[in-house]
Amino acid sequence: MIHLAYDSARQELAVTWDSPPPLSVRNCPEYAAFFERLGQVPGLRALREDLHEAFAVPYAQLIEAFSPVLPRGSVECQTAICRSLAAHAARSQGQGLEINHHQHPFDTAERAWRFILNQGRFADYFFNRLAWHLAPTYRIVTPFPLHVDLESASTCNMNCPMCYRDMLKTTGQMDFDLFCRLIDECAASDLYSVRLSWRGETLTHPRITEMIAYVAARIPNVSFLTNAFFIDERICACLVENRVSYVAVSFDGIGEVYETVRAPAKFAESMARLRMLRSMREAAGSLLPQIRTCTIWPAIRHDPGAYQQTMREVADYMVKNPYINFKGRMTLKQGFVCQYPWERIVVGWDGTGQCCTGWNATDIALGDARVVSIREMWHSPRQGEVRRLHQEGRRTELASCRECRHGSQGDPDVTIDEIVGRRW
Ligand SMILES: C[S@@+](CC[C@H](N)C(=O)[O-])C[C@H]1O[C@@H](n2cnc3c(N)ncnc32)[C@H](O)[C@@H]1O
Ligand code: SF4
Ligand code: SF4
Repeated sequence: MIHLAYDSARQELAVTWDSPPPLSVRNCPEYAAFFERLGQVPGLRALREDLHEAFAVPYAQLIEAFSPVLPRGSVECQTAICRSLAAHAARSQGQGLEINHHQHPFDTAERAWRFILNQGRFADYFFNRLAWHLAPTYRIVTPFPLHVDLESASTCNMNCPMCYRDMLKTTGQMDFDLFCRLIDECAASDLYSVRLSWRGETLTHPRITEMIAYVAARIPNVSFLTNAFFIDERICACLVENRVSYVAVSFDGIGEVYETVRAPAKFAESMARLRMLRSMREAAGSLLPQIRTCTIWPAIRHDPGAYQQTMREVADYMVKNPYINFKGRMTLKQGFVCQYPWERIVVGWDGTGQCCTGWNATDIALGDARVVSIREMWHSPRQGEVRRLHQEGRRTELASCRECRHGSQGDPDVTIDEIVGRRW
């Protein structure tokens, strides 16, 4: 969504949107309030004819201007990054780094902007994105992770042909008290976003509605991934009442392709579930939760337009992801530096923490969240070692990173029949 460059001589950030905000969204209260405050920052200047498209701004002044409307933890995080950049006469160390490299535009700029703005608290989002890009690019360790994933459940009702889940040795569901303690720690540090998912189906946790209510009352941006199978009236009511920011629904293809990949789900029934969620949020006069659908590319590559046309009705925003071949041959990308060690902490259902969503990154595990806090994991010697090895281009010395698909070439030509046929 954003491109950033830091000019150390001017101590200034240059901000360029991937797709500038279209005229139609500039009147949204969230965007208008952000832009009005931005306009008051001393030293702000346009980098293109239109200030909305690209601007440069002194970083310290930017933080100061927004401090009154940002949570304390966010201001501390930005201040730490700003000081670190100024102190080290920063030059990007981002060679090999590919931030959000798996995301490819698949929807209009207008819908992308509305999806973000409709979630509210745009200023919080904007500063979280600044940290998201600056921390990995300049290898800055922020006081607390920028995002946390808590795996409510690694259990699942499906067995999708492309998924690695069948290789997990054990599966289970997170203890509710552990979940609440972890959320309390995140809230105390003013964490911006929490996602309730990782390797399984989020909605298989028997106490998921209580978990959603607990996290939504404490964290500004709450989301989860789901195959949608268990979305019913009770779940919709919970999502709407608790103003969940967005639900990321995995919807691979349409019609028969969908039913083959996402068995035992039926296409018409899944569409009806998403329609129910939309109509219940509309009845409540709310825009939340926003609905984002995602599909693996091979499920739609024969006719991407048909997918877009069909899914526009139920999705506020659509994304497509490349297929990752978790079981087949892998070609490592040379010089790849992963963004995750500077970005997030992921806690599995059993309390095991790690810095990324690698499905079996056991040798870079950071301890048991029942006895080690998220902050301790983030600043642990092991985490420091992982960052150092990535930074020095030595990630393959870590077994998990050597075997990880994030740093490998994709499989762009595979067809959905091949994926389904070979069960991987
Ligand atoms: C492991 S699932 C867990 C959440 C939930 N059960 C779901 O299906 O959305 C998380 C995401 O990984 C995606 N995924 C699984 N296997 C994949 C693969 N081989 N390549 C690309 N994405 C994959 C799924 O489509 C889903 O969007
Ligand atoms: S992709 Fe999601 S729904 Fe499918 S098997 Fe994996 S965890 Fe389950
Ligand atoms: S295993 Fe290593 S390369 Fe893979 S996502 Fe985790 S940190 Fe990144």
